[in-house]
Amino acid sequence: MGKKVTVVGAGFYGSTTAQRLAEYDIFDTVVLTDILEGKPAGLALDMNQSRPIEGFETKVVGATTGPNGEGYEAIEGSDVVVVTAGLPRKPGMSRMDLLEVNAKIVRQVAENIAKYAPNAVVIVVSNPVDEMTALAQLATQFPKNRVFGQAGVLDTARFTNSIAETLAVPVKSVKALTLGSHGDTMVPVPSRCTVDGKPLSDLLPADKIEELVVRTRNGGAEVVALLKTGSAYYAPSAAAARMAKAVVEDSGEVLPVCAWVDGEYGISGVYLGVEAQIGAEGIKKVVEDKLTDSEVAGLKEAAEAVRAKQADVATL
Ligand code: APR
Repeated sequence: MGKKVTVVGAGFYGSTTAQRLAEYDIFDTVVLTDILEGKPAGLALDMNQSRPIEGFETKVVGATTGPNGEGYEAIEGSDVVVVTAGLPRKPGMSRMDLLEVNAKIVRQVAENIAKYAPNAVVIVVSNPVDEMTALAQLATQFPKNRVFGQAGVLDTARFTNSIAETLAVPVKSVKALTLGSHGDTMVPVPSRCTVDGKPLSDLLPADKIEELVVRTRNGGAEVVALLKTGSAYYAPSAAAARMAKAVVEDSGEVLPVCAWVDGEYGISGVYLGVEAQIGAEGIKKVVEDKLTDSEVAGLKEAAEAVRAKQADVATL
């Protein structure tokens, strides 16, 4: 059977994700939904008209949805649903400032996903993503492996790009990693960064590496400050689309994602940015690898910070 993916939210993040997914040409259908009348249908038509030029056959379908499930029939049978619905940041805002307003949106979306696409793998990107992922799992009541969030692929890409620019090397020679939360307690992992196989610490002094770590942690805010309206979407959509592809292709690749952690690194009972093997069932397994003591301490600090907030969302 042909594969079907839905992207909920036809704003900047959602529409660029839908476009990337369609251009992969691995799905029968990409469904794009929003509460706005006409916008998802208009974007879908526009993307379909690019098919002869870009040379893909995937059909994009736009659907307007309502709070009580109106229009949600369009998502039936989706293998993957990417949730991008929700407000983005404005300059000066932290992702956490979006907690209450986006919790209402994500809860409602998740309840409708559970009803109309009960077998889907759900990838959450709405911010604050660690909390919205936990909420989506609660509201869908899906097994925890079938709900995970996008953060680490993006943060790692930002880290990688900065390292490549600093050393004037191709991005493909850089291997980097970020774990932890998608926020202040993000844990970029310099000990796992290499350039053409050489440890980053052989190539850059510690203070320069720390500068890159700080820039990575503030990567989203740096874009928000420049854009002034809205937040980043090109790199974020590349990350989300790549994760959805790993699911439908049952690729088994290991990616840094926001996954349910159950004992790894001595941390339990929380959604947190860790490396995980991705496949048709979502998270196949969380992969624990060697970190320095201070990186593990950073991960534990991140876990406690998001644990507190994830408890709050249960009541939102
Ligand atoms: N169902 C579907 N779509 C919704 C709903 C809902 N219940 N509520 C809001 N939306 C839609 C809005 O109508 C809007 O079109 O979500 C879209 C959000 O689009 P943008 O404002 O362009 O925001 P975007 O940049 O796409 O970011 C979306 O991703 O990175 C995160 O922090 C960001 O939480 C934000 C999300």
